[in-house]
Amino acid sequence: MSDFTPRYLADYSESNFSISTVELTFELNEHKTRVINRMQISKKQPSDAPLILDGEHLKLLSVSLNKALLSDDDYQVNDMSLTINVADAEFLLEIVTELNPIENTALEGLFKSGDAYCTQCEAEGFRRISYYLDRPDVMATFTTKVIADKAKFPYLLSNGNKVAAGDLANGQHFVQWHDPFPKPSYLFALVAGDFDVLTDSFRTCSARNVALEIFVDKGNLDKAHHAMASLKHSMAWDEETFGLEYDLDIYMIVAVDFFNMGAMENKGLNVFNSKFVLADEKSATDTDYFNVEAVIAHEYFHNWTGNRVTCRDWFQLSLKEGLTVFRDQQFSADMHSAVVTRIQNVRVLRSMQFAEDAGPMAHPIRPEKVLEMNNFYTLTVYEKGAEVIRMIHTLLGAEKFRKGIDLYFERFDGMAVTCDDFINAMADASAVDLTKFKGWYEQAGTPQLNVEESFDADSNTYQISITQSNGENTALHIPIGIELISVESKKSAAHLLQLTEQKQTWSFQGFARKPVLALLTGFTAPVKSQLSQSDQDLETIMNHADDEFCQWDAGQTLLSTYIKRVMAAPELTLPSNLIDAVRNILHSDASAAFKAEQLTLPSFSELADSIEEVDPIALLDAIDKVKLGLATELEALFLQHYQQNIQQEFANDGKAIGQRALKNICLSYLTTLAPQQSLLAEQYQNATNMTDSLAALNSAAKGNAESFTIMMADFEQKWNSTALVMDKWFSIQASVCDETIYANLAKLIKHPLFTLNNPNRARSLIGAFTMNNPRYFHCSSGRGYQFLIEQIKLLNIINPQVASRMITPLIQFSSLDQKRQKMIKTLLVDLSKQENLSKDLKEKLDAALAG
Ligand code: TRP
Ligand code: ZN
Repeated sequence: MSDFTPRYLADYSESNFSISTVELTFELNEHKTRVINRMQISKKQPSDAPLILDGEHLKLLSVSLNKALLSDDDYQVNDMSLTINVADAEFLLEIVTELNPIENTALEGLFKSGDAYCTQCEAEGFRRISYYLDRPDVMATFTTKVIADKAKFPYLLSNGNKVAAGDLANGQHFVQWHDPFPKPSYLFALVAGDFDVLTDSFRTCSARNVALEIFVDKGNLDKAHHAMASLKHSMAWDEETFGLEYDLDIYMIVAVDFFNMGAMENKGLNVFNSKFVLADEKSATDTDYFNVEAVIAHEYFHNWTGNRVTCRDWFQLSLKEGLTVFRDQQFSADMHSAVVTRIQNVRVLRSMQFAEDAGPMAHPIRPEKVLEMNNFYTLTVYEKGAEVIRMIHTLLGAEKFRKGIDLYFERFDGMAVTCDDFINAMADASAVDLTKFKGWYEQAGTPQLNVEESFDADSNTYQISITQSNGENTALHIPIGIELISVESKKSAAHLLQLTEQKQTWSFQGFARKPVLALLTGFTAPVKSQLSQSDQDLETIMNHADDEFCQWDAGQTLLSTYIKRVMAAPELTLPSNLIDAVRNILHSDASAAFKAEQLTLPSFSELADSIEEVDPIALLDAIDKVKLGLATELEALFLQHYQQNIQQEFANDGKAIGQRALKNICLSYLTTLAPQQSLLAEQYQNATNMTDSLAALNSAAKGNAESFTIMMADFEQKWNSTALVMDKWFSIQASVCDETIYANLAKLIKHPLFTLNNPNRARSLIGAFTMNNPRYFHCSSGRGYQFLIEQIKLLNIINPQVASRMITPLIQFSSLDQKRQKMIKTLLVDLSKQENLSKDLKEKLDAALAG
């Protein structure tokens, strides 16, 4: 029986105990791993209060205090903790526990990924390894000895530096590691296995050589080069941009197939989902390459923002995550097209984070109440958290932002601190008042801006009034970048408005006619805005704004306006100005990558977010209709661009990637037209890379093309022994747009390669169905919802963390029409009555069913 008592930020109190050193010994065994944990502990204040250590799913073998074995009645154990009364001010505590890694399907604590052992301790997984003060503000120096069979596990890894190694009896060996940096338990890691290792080195700015090692499953060495290059780029970037140098002599990355999240920044020993390490041109798409680089960078950047300065408590998670996501976004923007990178960040926000902020699990980037911490590794904490850091960057400017970061490390290096500590450092270093800005850490929900414009021809004055509403009455400090485009000269002037009140007005002189407003240049704030602009104004922005983000955004507004109009009046034909706008995009001299972004229609979820109680099928019909309409009108032009962007030789530079993106978006328009569907098999057969193969398969799945089954059979045969590619195969199967999908899902669940135990595989089928196949997920029969619920019931037992992530589209039911809301609620009520419901699901179901 789980404990369903939530924790509150307001209840934070320091522990009265500190742990200076931890010596761990692991005797690895599949069913019975023994862990010896020797801790040097001291009391901060004299007190009789007992020591209460966290511990879950553990078998306790023994406890010794100052080397004397304790008897059962010297301590109390339950399924959450171990309580000991200790009189001494300083003492040595030794705890021996036994673990069962092979049965650990939750993938928290110590578990097996294939043949290898590995750990995942964030947020509260260390308590599944030993009894401990498992909280980030308790920092200790770790020494770890790992013992295992030498033949099966030649590599035994942990944090820090290798200090000893040797052979033992019965074919066993050991390696001992010492991490000189005190750290919280969530950064502990251990890996044991047989790997191929890619080695390299990096010379730091102070001329130290750091050994770089990437461990991958045997046979995958060729797929680790991109990750290695990305790591070196990240290390150089952080030195150049923030003056931050790596601090140990070795940096290791291990790729594993069984992993709940993307990757983990354990000190000196990152553990990665193999999806974010392995890449070669045959098996990985351009997006995969981009993501590998971004995640490698993200985890590397955590070494300073997360590890050197960590969180006081888990409510402060955005302290490290928001800041580190901002840093990896800046890195990606520097490595690639800045505007395309920014557009992709904003799409994630608008299509997913806004929905979270509008749903039952809405929370501030610094939550105040948590039942299961794993539920708060969210788009809000990460992505909105990064937007909040970006706003500080905008308000301070790059130079003062850097000063603020310097002061932050000067003050807090080696400490566990709060979001307030961070803001105060930024404010102190820059002399910018961030008092009102702190509201961003306290308020949930997406603020809305209402914009009114007026123009006075007598005084040549343009006025803009902005009102903010965010569900609460306290005004937030919002940076709003704008451009005013003169309708005569088409010249543009940029301004940064700072909205700090509920409503403010700004005046601009010297306009003969009302200028056109381009709002939120570069998307300066994570807000929604209400501003009605004519098609003509939107076209002016598309063609004349200096800010490329606004150019793109105006095009998206134009397209979504028509999609919504078609939804209300399905017989509507596309107006010529819309067709002209899309034609102009194709003809423009912008980069292929940017054009591809402009031609991508706003997604279903992005559009759904702006419609109350949306009928998903009506919305999908409207999107399809606009796409088909544009394809019909511009067929020849799409075909011309399709053909022009076919490359004979594979290349991996920005230009080639952009060309593939443009070609493949053209393909997706063209193949809505039956006579053009022959392009799919043609592209599939001629493809020299995974991006092109997948684009053909995806369009075939959506358009239900005849060639689909044959191509998929071929693809399966070719790739059945490459797990990451088979994940793609399952995802495409799940996005087939046809009635037969339910029968096929039932078959796919039974496919010999399908297993709910592997999170990537589970997500590739179930997650892809719910996210990429909205027409059948939201089918009015409810079959899509039922399918998801059945899988969640199974996953609740196998892996609660994955189950809890996957339920997201169901708990966000309030965005849907009444009929669907009712169907979903009935299913959720039923699920809430499940026996053995995890804390993860319990927290979400309670929130969803509360209203
Ligand atoms: N700190 C990790 C990151 O952002 C997140 C993470 C990895 C995680 N694995 C996890 C969080 C498991 C919770 C549980 O890079
Ligand atoms: Zn992170």
